[in-house]
Amino acid sequence: MDQRRIRYPTAPLTNTKKLEHAMSAKLLDGKGISKEIQKETKVKVEQFIADHGESPVLAAVLVGDDPASQVYVRNKERACARAGIESQLHRLPATSTTEDILAKVVELNEDSQVNGILVQLPLPDQADSRVILDAIDPQKDVDAFHPHNVGLISQGRPQFLPCTPHGIVQMLKRCGIETTGKSVCVIGRSDIVGKPMAMMLGQKDSDLGPEMANATVTLCHSRTQNLASITQQADILIAAIGRPNFVTPDMIKPGAVVVDVGINRTEQGLVGDVDFDSGKEVAGFITPVPGGVGPLTVTMLLENTLMAAIIQIKSIA
Ligand code: GUN
Repeated sequence: MDQRRIRYPTAPLTNTKKLEHAMSAKLLDGKGISKEIQKETKVKVEQFIADHGESPVLAAVLVGDDPASQVYVRNKERACARAGIESQLHRLPATSTTEDILAKVVELNEDSQVNGILVQLPLPDQADSRVILDAIDPQKDVDAFHPHNVGLISQGRPQFLPCTPHGIVQMLKRCGIETTGKSVCVIGRSDIVGKPMAMMLGQKDSDLGPEMANATVTLCHSRTQNLASITQQADILIAAIGRPNFVTPDMIKPGAVVVDVGINRTEQGLVGDVDFDSGKEVAGFITPVPGGVGPLTVTMLLENTLMAAIIQIKSIA
């Protein structure tokens, strides 16, 4: 591990256990843990402001009017305000081209007041997401989507940790659930969640300690054969495929930790990737939807924005 890197500070394990009883599984209270981390972030932001006389600044780029994206961006703005982080919202029309969005990214890269840049996904079909995400300055890439940051994560020396996987590791740590030596199954190989999650948990070490890495990880996807036979072996099952109620109780090892990353809008309201009502009868621990992983994603974005501000201050010092 490169000792020169700025590390994510962590709270001691002892005062962070927050479990509530559901039916048979214990509920992993992502919302409560998020509040706890946000309080810690707020203190660190106050210290940053005291030291440097300015707030960290996050710039979000929102293209078009996708309702879910509007909600996410609003939640991010509110969370920034609570933590003392300044947020900017740059709205672009749904008809924006790749070049239009690139121009905005370049402007934000060059703006020394802006510490973190987030381009809300998905972008409209005519915009090339890869080209746009690749244009973000890696030092301002608070989503950790840039190939430079993905490469560092894959080598086990991350600059930024991607928000959702980082939130999941924080939640497990703060609930006393270690991953070392465990069998972990991740369902879904997205660049945002599945792939980085698998990379992080399979590493030899983690910024949160070796007990939060060193897992034996199986990354499953749409072409995986006999999926249930693999998920049934998992001590920790992470569902990130975006299909409502996809994980049924027969796929869960009794007593397993089940982390549901799905946020699916259905006629029945917001539904996860796990059939919660029946899943909780088999699992040992389970995250609810909403109130599980979702709030943690926003929370870790705040941490990354503060981290970006610290990195940028150090690079000019
Ligand atoms: N859309 C859904 N999740 C995310 C995320 O974590 N970051 C960005 N930029 N867009 C998203």
